[in-house]
Amino acid sequence: MEVKIFDSTADLALYAARIFQNVIKENSAPVLGLATGASPVETYKELIKMYNNGEISFKDVTTFNLDEYCDLPKDDKNSYYTFMMENLFNYVDIDKNNVNIPDGNAADTDKYGEEYDKKIMNAGGIDIQLLGIGVNGHIGFNEPSESFSEGTHKVKLTDSTLKANSRYFTDSEMPHYALTMGIGSIMNAKKIVLIATGEAKAQAVYSAVKGEVSPNCPASILQTHNDAIFLLDSAAASML
Ligand code: F6R
Repeated sequence: MEVKIFDSTADLALYAARIFQNVIKENSAPVLGLATGASPVETYKELIKMYNNGEISFKDVTTFNLDEYCDLPKDDKNSYYTFMMENLFNYVDIDKNNVNIPDGNAADTDKYGEEYDKKIMNAGGIDIQLLGIGVNGHIGFNEPSESFSEGTHKVKLTDSTLKANSRYFTDSEMPHYALTMGIGSIMNAKKIVLIATGEAKAQAVYSAVKGEVSPNCPASILQTHNDAIFLLDSAAASML
């Protein structure tokens, strides 16, 4: 696992976007694994800039998002579907038929999860996966637990995640469940880029990078991936 520390979050976002740009350029049908939340927003802005400058096109790109809340209408302002449209997809030339975001309202979540993983496989697997990290070390919505999960599945969000994300749900209650790609689905990605900024992530980053590989800190599994890089600002890296 490689770790790179940046003085400015703008430089970090540009660096992350350049890694994505290379993967998009090198592959005739690139498959991107994408994340939501605060961490990737600036990187998406850089990718939009690159698209506007004619440096990249998303026309042959397929995407798979990590997760989605359960029991929230797809077009709710807090859904991850809405987030992706508003932060990336509405501003680039991606074919929306090639956009995949877990359906948090799927009736049979076990069956749906299997199909989502199959779809990733049939697309040739994820070339590059973007990740954030929760203050509790979660990746996707794989919360600390007793074992590493495999495929896409339904999870109950922990109090730590409810606390961290409830700030977005100002006029409705935050869902308590989500669908998430599993640790197995994430680890299958050929390349992984994790972004963490701010002091609140310092402990999780420390456990992920320096702690033992344990499902108590799901991100620690990334130590065993052969092409994973953590892009950190100095606050997130302050305990390393
Ligand atoms: C989002 C996701 C989560 C977030 C994590 C950090 O799709 O999978 O793991 O990356 O909760 O969230 P932010 O970036 O908002 O601090």
